[in-house]
Amino acid sequence: MHPMLNTAVKAARRAGNLINRASLDLGQLKVGVKQQNDFVTEVDRAAEATIIETLREVYPSHAILAEESGDSRPDATAEFQWIIDPLDGTTNFIHGFPQYAISIALAHKGVLAHAVVYDPNRNELFTASKGAGAFLNEKRIRVSNRPKLDEALLGTGFPYRMFDHVDAYLAIFKEMTRRCAGVRRPGAASLDLAYVAAGRLDGFWEFGLSPWDMAAGALLILEAGGLVSDLAGEGEYLKTGNIVGGNPKVFNQLLQAIQPHRTPALQA
Ligand code: IPD
Ligand code: CA
Ligand code: CA
Repeated sequence: MHPMLNTAVKAARRAGNLINRASLDLGQLKVGVKQQNDFVTEVDRAAEATIIETLREVYPSHAILAEESGDSRPDATAEFQWIIDPLDGTTNFIHGFPQYAISIALAHKGVLAHAVVYDPNRNELFTASKGAGAFLNEKRIRVSNRPKLDEALLGTGFPYRMFDHVDAYLAIFKEMTRRCAGVRRPGAASLDLAYVAAGRLDGFWEFGLSPWDMAAGALLILEAGGLVSDLAGEGEYLKTGNIVGGNPKVFNQLLQAIQPHRTPALQA
């Protein structure tokens, strides 16, 4: 394993231990609201601090883009930038719904190089390095080879905080519930993307995400032989926040089904 990926794994496991301990006593949890339906707990902040400390020990000069601190945009000019979601699926965590993850990616000159998504409930560690494949607990994973959208199990995320695109989203949702085998909304985008990489889901789409929700999961899908894009079919999803992913066949059909529903504000 590449030393940078190894450090990210160490950081993710430390954060996972902290989150697992906190999950034993959710009654004690103090929940803050950042904006409507956007929650943060001291666990999110402590997990982020642990991750940053672990990374900084080894790579003090690397830039950091983390949800609860740091800058808010990916920096293509930084030589190395870590993109971190210390607890993806905070709403699930607060409710004791065991579907959340730690997501850590490293971009090198703006290109995703390493990725970790760690599910501390199931002790499932998804990792990838550019050009070296994707793994679940050190076993190679590949996207599914289900060829047809009408047989596909899709993941998605509902709009719940910003409602600008809710009508376009619901029109797509309506079409997908008719056209595919099933749609799931588990509640942690990084893990949804990791599930596409592992072939548990055949495709995924969501709008309005932040770079830390997607960076690691996107590299996992690419390294597992899948495709990801923004709504224009280009690679700008970390900037636009809108992502479509899947095995190559389902990805193409899903993107084609989504595109006619785009509004002027939802082009890419
Ligand atoms: C959220 C989760 C959720 C997605 C949201 C994200 P958070 O992240 O990934 O699945 O639908 O858009 O913001 O806030 O729990 O880290
Ligand atoms: Ca998140
Ligand atoms: Ca988060």
